[in-house]
Amino acid sequence: MSLLDDFVAALEQGKEAISAAATSDALEKVRVEYLGRSGKLRDLMARIKEVAKEEKGAVGQKMNEVKDALTGLLENRTGELASSAPSGPLPDPTLPGITQRRGTRHPLTQTVDRIAAIFERLGFSIADGPEVEDEFHNFDALNIPENHPARDSFDTFFLSNDKILRSQTSTVQIRVMEKIAPPVRIIAPGRVYRPDTVDATHFYGFSQLEGLAVGEDITFADLKGTLGVFAREMFGKDTATRFRPHFFPFTEPSAEMDVSCIFCQGQGCKVCKRSGWIEILGCGMVDPNVFLAVNKKRGTDDYDPEKYSGFAFGLGIERIAMLTLGVDDIRRFFENDLRFLRQF
Ligand code: DAH
Repeated sequence: MSLLDDFVAALEQGKEAISAAATSDALEKVRVEYLGRSGKLRDLMARIKEVAKEEKGAVGQKMNEVKDALTGLLENRTGELASSAPSGPLPDPTLPGITQRRGTRHPLTQTVDRIAAIFERLGFSIADGPEVEDEFHNFDALNIPENHPARDSFDTFFLSNDKILRSQTSTVQIRVMEKIAPPVRIIAPGRVYRPDTVDATHFYGFSQLEGLAVGEDITFADLKGTLGVFAREMFGKDTATRFRPHFFPFTEPSAEMDVSCIFCQGQGCKVCKRSGWIEILGCGMVDPNVFLAVNKKRGTDDYDPEKYSGFAFGLGIERIAMLTLGVDDIRRFFENDLRFLRQF
């Protein structure tokens, strides 16, 4: 075969190799194989000395044609590959999609919201107060005497500059009455703090919900009626309530309210310690001394104990959440363990 024929054959082979190259790497290999320093065209060119003198011109021309043709084809194919090539592996449409997990409210927030919704339907609005408090709002105005054990550092966190962390939401009763004249109908959910030893039912910070209603002719019957509605809405329509006499400095008379055990319907079980009853909250009629302390602070006698009366109550949110959601350890609420939280 003449050198001329070899060039023609090289062009044909090169064309095929170029169109067969499926990736830019494969194409680059073809380029090196044909046009590279020690590529096929160079090898053929080296054989020009074998050719007769009068044929050298024609062979040289053929060589240039082949080189230009291959260069052009390489460029085209490079463009084709660049526009059609997916970058990286093709996505697999049969794989399951990525689910966006929807968050939920914390079980304590859910519990507060449920309780608040019940009282809001009964005409109570939501009030708020600071967690860093003074002794006046946490104790004095609530008729808690100077020497009361609740004022011990065993029972209350004392901060510097005469401040404390509130140990009960009853502070908000005072804060609200300082601001507005009667009538009052508020609930106040919020955090409270006590230096308790942590165990399955105690934590150094927890939540309470306080309630206060003040007006003319408010009686213990109103207290019982209101809290009875709450108990039935919260724990089921057949829930019974009972009020046991108790003592709180800021209410007189005072009581603790029990509900019939929601686990055994009052039959007696492990949770209610065979009594059939579960204690839910403290309550009572606002002590006139509380009204007098508020009047003194306001510099008015708007809260005239002869004209106005009221009832108050306070409950522990975690305790109610544990009962209604079936949680056996208060610490679970504060660990931010998603395996726990996602159950609610
Ligand atoms: N503050 C009380 C406590 O932390 C709960 C309480 C009892 C609140 C009776 C009240 C009430 O408003 O009337 O134990």
